[in-house]
Amino acid sequence: MKILIVGGAGYIGSHVAREFLDGGHSVTVYDNLSTGTRQNLFAEARFVEGDILDAQSLAKLAREGFDALVHLAAAKAAGESMTDPMKYSTQNLNGTVNIINAAVVGGIGKLVFSSSAAVYGEPKYLPVDEKHPTNPENYYGFTKLEIERILGWYDKLKGLRFAALRYFNAAGYDPAGRISGLERSPANLLPVVMEVAAGMRPELMVFGEDYETKDGTGVRDYVHVSDLARGHVAALDWIGCNNRSLVVNLGSEEGISVKEMLESARRITGKPIPAKIVGRRAGDPAKLVASSSLAHELLGWSARHSDVDSLVRTTWEAYRVNAGGS
Ligand code: UD1
Repeated sequence: MKILIVGGAGYIGSHVAREFLDGGHSVTVYDNLSTGTRQNLFAEARFVEGDILDAQSLAKLAREGFDALVHLAAAKAAGESMTDPMKYSTQNLNGTVNIINAAVVGGIGKLVFSSSAAVYGEPKYLPVDEKHPTNPENYYGFTKLEIERILGWYDKLKGLRFAALRYFNAAGYDPAGRISGLERSPANLLPVVMEVAAGMRPELMVFGEDYETKDGTGVRDYVHVSDLARGHVAALDWIGCNNRSLVVNLGSEEGISVKEMLESARRITGKPIPAKIVGRRAGDPAKLVASSSLAHELLGWSARHSDVDSLVRTTWEAYRVNAGGS
C-alpha cells in the first residue's frame, strides 16, 4: 500500500514508518521537524517537509493518491496544554481538521489517528476499557476526544474509515536500534530517567510517593512503541477488511510504578540515577492500566516488548549510542 505518514519524523511516527516499511509498503513522511528530527527519516521513505497548518500543501500532496493516511502530528504535553491551550487548539484541532479535509479531497479513504488514554480522565474503574466514560482532565485529552468525534462525523458524511488508537504510555525504542532521534526536552518518565542516567540532567523528581499503589508511586501502563507501531498496521488492515471505523485501546495491561522503572533503569544502566521525592503533579491519577481485550479480539494484537526491562534496555541503548551515555 501507499501510506502517507503525517508526523512520521517524530518519536512514535518514526517507529510506525519503520513498521510499514518493514511490511513492504511505500511510505511518504510529511513533517515540519518541529519536534521530529531528520535522524528519524529512513532512506527508503520519501520525505516532504511541511506543516499541518499549511492546508494547501497538505491537500496537494494528498491528491497524489495514497491508500491510507496515518496521523501522528500533535503537541502532547498534557501539563502545557493547561497553560497554553491556544497551541493545542491550533496544532491539534486546526491541524487535524486540515489533515482530515486533505484526506477527503485527495480521495484517501482510510485514516489512522493517534488518540490517547487521556480521553478517559481520572479512571472510575480499572482496567480501563473502551466503554469507560470519557472525561478528559486536561485540554490535550479534550483535543484528542474532539478529533475522535469529528472523525465519527466524517465517517458518516464522507465515508472516511478511521482507526482511533488510544495509546497508554508509549515508551521504549526500536529493539533493532534503527531509530536514533532522541526527544528534545522530554517530560515523560522514561526519557527523563534516561537523561539523568546519561548525565544530561542532575536528578529525577518523583512526583509523589503517597499514592495508594504498590509502593506509593504512580502506576502506569507503559506500552512499547514498536508494539504500538504494529497496532497501526493491524488497525489499518482491520478497517480495510471490514470497511468500518474503530476506536481501540493499545496498552500492555501491566502496571509499572515509578520506583519499578527507576530500579530497572539503575540495574540496566549501572548508573546511580539520583532521585528526589517531590510533591504530586497536578492532574496525575494514582494508577492507570488498560484493558486491551478489544485489540486482542479484533486485531489479534498484544504487547510483546512492554515488560519493564525491555522498555528500559531499548531506551538506554538509544541514549547510550546517541546521547553520549556509556
Ligand atoms: C502523560 C499525559 C498523557 C499523555 C502522555 C503522553 C498527564 C496527566 N498525562 O501521561 O495525557 O498522553 O503523557 O505524553 O499529563 N513522573 C515522575 N517524574 C517525572 C515524570 C513523570 O515521577 O519527571 C511520574 C508521573 O507522576 C506518573 C508517571 O511518572 O506517575 C508517568 O508520567 P508521564 O511519563 O509524564 O506520563 P503520564 O502523566 O501518565
